[in-house]
This record gives sequence, structure tokens and C-alpha cells, in this order.
Amino acid sequence: MQSPKLSILIAALIAISQYKSVTALTCNAGTNGQVTCAEGVTECFVKTVAGNVTRGCVTDTTCVAPTCLTCKTDNCNEARMCKQCFGSQPDCGRTNGSADAFNTLCLTATDQCAIVVAANGTVSRGCRGACAANDPNCKSCTTDNCNVGIFPENRRLCYQCNGDTCGTPDNASMLLGCDIYQATGQKCYTIGTSATTMQRGCQTDSTADNKCSASSTDPNCLFCDNENGCNNRPYSRVLGSCYKCNDADKCLLQQEAGKESACAPAVYTQNENSCYTQLFNNGSVGRGCTNELADGCETTQNCNACTGDNCNVNIATFQCLICRSDYYAPCRQAKVQPENCPASSLTGPQAMKCFSGEWDGVVVRGCLSEASALMQYQCTAEADTRCQTCTGLGCNRLVYNGAATLQQMGLGLFALISIVRHYF
Ligand SMILES: *[C@@H]1O[C@H](CO)[C@@H](O)[C@H](O)[C@H]1NC(C)=O
Ligand SMILES: *[C@@H]1O[C@H](CO)[C@@H](O)[C@H](O)[C@H]1NC(C)=O
Ligand SMILES: *[C@@H]1O[C@H](CO)[C@@H](O)[C@H](O)[C@H]1NC(C)=O
Ligand SMILES: *[C@@H]1O[C@H](CO)[C@@H](O)[C@H](O)[C@H]1NC(C)=O
Ligand SMILES: *[C@@H]1O[C@H](CO)[C@@H](O)[C@H](O)[C@H]1NC(C)=O
Repeated sequence: MQSPKLSILIAALIAISQYKSVTALTCNAGTNGQVTCAEGVTECFVKTVAGNVTRGCVTDTTCVAPTCLTCKTDNCNEARMCKQCFGSQPDCGRTNGSADAFNTLCLTATDQCAIVVAANGTVSRGCRGACAANDPNCKSCTTDNCNVGIFPENRRLCYQCNGDTCGTPDNASMLLGCDIYQATGQKCYTIGTSATTMQRGCQTDSTADNKCSASSTDPNCLFCDNENGCNNRPYSRVLGSCYKCNDADKCLLQQEAGKESACAPAVYTQNENSCYTQLFNNGSVGRGCTNELADGCETTQNCNACTGDNCNVNIATFQCLICRSDYYAPCRQAKVQPENCPASSLTGPQAMKCFSGEWDGVVVRGCLSEASALMQYQCTAEADTRCQTCTGLGCNRLVYNGAATLQQMGLGLFALISIVRHYF
């Protein structure tokens, strides 16, 4: 038999449980305002589908994070849904932060969604009070998931990739903001040894595999900062065309328009087409694209490079420094530009040679084939130290120290005139 007291207690407990089911959970339901959830519902939700945010009572099992978030107290889902990520997550700053994985439900209805760039250049997103007005490093907003977007808006975008797919980088997935924000001078880099081993990124990347950080001296690092995605050069590409020839008769002459041909692909570090004209010791001429020369174009090999499409069009000319220090003082220090020698300097025993010498205090430089017979003799005679010859475009750069005295010059002038008469 139950005692009367126990019966009363049981009755009270039944009343309490009935009371509980009467005071059901209330949730925010968006434009429908607050709703009372059905019996047994214990959670409110905020859900995002393709950017469309809905709210209500959790009524089925389709509410799964991160697109659908739940909470358990009355109207707790009134709070905003925001993107939340931290400076330790590179994608927080590299992307616009719209990934569903970043969805979070703020704890209080007064929280706003915000993006903050820290002093060290990292970005974080999340719920917080409004940013101070005019703070360029903090942006807050008051609609669900509004804290998306590259921030700061002027954050440099660089291609960021590695390996096989990095040869021709994809705009949609590889053009990203630099993880570490730098207000000015932020650079993108490109490095690689083939189309399938390219690496691209930001100079400020703190990752261990950044081969082109600010401290790198690797000449294969190509940096750019002129525009977003500027580090998009393929490993190699054809930059232009040049005249190409290697024959004994026509290659020496002015080249005919329309006879040029495309150059071999140039690697990413080269940005301007370069052509060359080379004089060979046998008197013939070669022309072509500089990047097709295995050993490069060296003036010591009588090779003359020029920049631009088909720039190696002109008649081949040998060049020397041509000057006299009594007419032009910087001649002593070889501070003059090489000048064309006459066509006759391409043939004969003195072909493609320059000379420099000092006679009675006056330095004379020129093309050996144009010097007087006496000078040629003096310049080529080993015993004679007054004059030297050399082989190569503009090679006569020997520097003569000191300035000749006026007296020396006066005394030597007559002799000099007779020596160099032929030349000048
Ligand atoms: C967003 O949700 C509203 C309300 O449920 C619906 O009418 C609308 O079609 C949805 N839009 C998208 C893009 O899903
Ligand atoms: C964010 O970036 C993704 C991927 O590039 C893009 O699909 C999405 O539309 C962007 N969202 C916003 C809000 O800019
Ligand atoms: C940058 O600063 C933020 C905020 O002060 C900090 O959380 C983060 O760890 C820092 N990151 C680095 C790489 O120093
Ligand atoms: C890729 O992005 C760059 C820079 O924003 C733009 O100039 C280029 O047209 C884009 N290419 C493609 C294929 O969308
Ligand atoms: C001249 O020398 C160059 C380089 O050694 C060579 O390629 C070319 O065939 C030679 N020309 C003649 C006509 O011997």
C-alpha cells in the first residue's frame, strides 16, 4: 500500500514533468521571428546552403556541421553565423575565407562578424564586437557570414603552387593572397628547373620550402610586384625572332626583311628577346638568337648582342675604341664607347684587331687595319712596348695611368703627327 505522502510526491513529479513539456524550447526562425519548437526538440539551428542562411528548431538529422550548426538554449540561434579562422591557418588570409569549415555560431546576439589583420601580417576571422571606426586593420559587419573576402582588399595575390600542375598555374585554385600581409613591396616569386618542377609563391611565405625568401640570393628566383598573379611565366616560352645565318657571303651584309626566324624558347628569367651578330676569325659572320648560343655571346669572342625582335639586321661591323688623348682626355682611361671600324677591317692580316699605345705621352686607340704601316709594325712587334694589339670587339681598353705633361706632348707632337697621319 502506498502511503498518502508518497502518492502526493508522485503526483507532484508528474505535474513537474508535464510543466516541463509545456515550456518548450524557443528558437529564432529568421523572418518568422521566434518559434516554439515541437515537443521533444532540444536544439536550435543555423544552416547555410549556397550562402543562404536559414534558422529554426532542429527537427531532423540533416543538420550536420559545418553547414548546419546547433545550440541548446532559448533563441541561442539568434546570434550571427560568422567565419572563424586564425592566423595559424594560412588559408584564413590566402583565401576569401568562405570555406564552410570556417562556419561558427557566435555566442551572443550582439557579436558581429569581423576580419582582423595582426601586426605580424596574419589574418584572423571570427565573432567580436564592432571594430573601431577607421581602423584599417579591422573590418566588422552585421549579416551572417559577411566576414569573407580577401583582406585587406589590396592584399597581393600570387600564384602559389608546386610541381606538376604549377607549369601553367590555374587562376581559380592557385591565385591566392599572400599568407603574410605586407602593406608595400610584397613580391611574388617564380623558380624552377623545368616545366614540371616549378614553384611559385610569395616572398614573405614562412613555409620551410620557400626557396625565394627575402634573404635568398638564388639568381633563379624571379621576383615581381607589378600586379596580382604576375608570377605566371611558364618555365620557357618563345620571346621573338632573329636573323639566323652562318654563310660566307650574305651573312655579313644587311639582312633582308622577312628572312628572320623564331628563337628557341627562353627560360622564365629572360624577358626580352636577344639576337647576336658574331664575327669569326676566318672572316665569316654568324647571326642568331642569343639564347641558342651554348656559351653565350661574349664580346671577347667578337659577339655583339642586341635586344628586341630581329635587331641583328645591320651589316656586320668590327668595333674598337677610337680616340686620341690629346683631342679627348678620357681616352687615356678608355672611357669612350666602341665605334665601328671600316668594312675593310673584316679581312686581311690585321682583320678584327684593335690597338692601343702611347707615343710621347699621347694615348692613341683604334682599328689596327686602319693604322699606318709604321704603327702596325710598332704595335705588332713584340720588342716594342709602346703599343699593344688585341682581338675582340672593343677590346682595346688598356688603361694608361697619369696624364702626360704639356712638355711631353709639345715635344712629341710632330713625331706623332707623322706616325698617326694615316689613321686620322
Ligand atoms: C534561400 O532560402 C529561401 C527561404 O527558404 C528560399 O526561398 C530561397 O530559394 C533560397 N535561396 C537559395 C539560393 O537557396
Ligand atoms: C570565394 O572564393 C571561392 C573560390 O575561389 C569562390 O567560389 C567564391 O565565390 C568566393 N566567395 C566570395 C564571397 O567572394
Ligand atoms: C601573429 O600574431 C597573431 C596575433 O597576435 C598570433 O596569434 C600568431 O601566432 C602570430 N603568428 C606568427 C607566425 O607569428
Ligand atoms: C587569370 O588571372 C589573371 C590576373 O587576374 C588575368 O589577367 C587572366 O586573364 C586570368 N586568366 C584566365 C584564364 O582566367
Ligand atoms: C668560320 O668559323 C666559324 C666558327 O668557327 C664556322 O662556323 C664557319 O663555318 C667558318 N666559315 C668558313 C667559311 O670557314
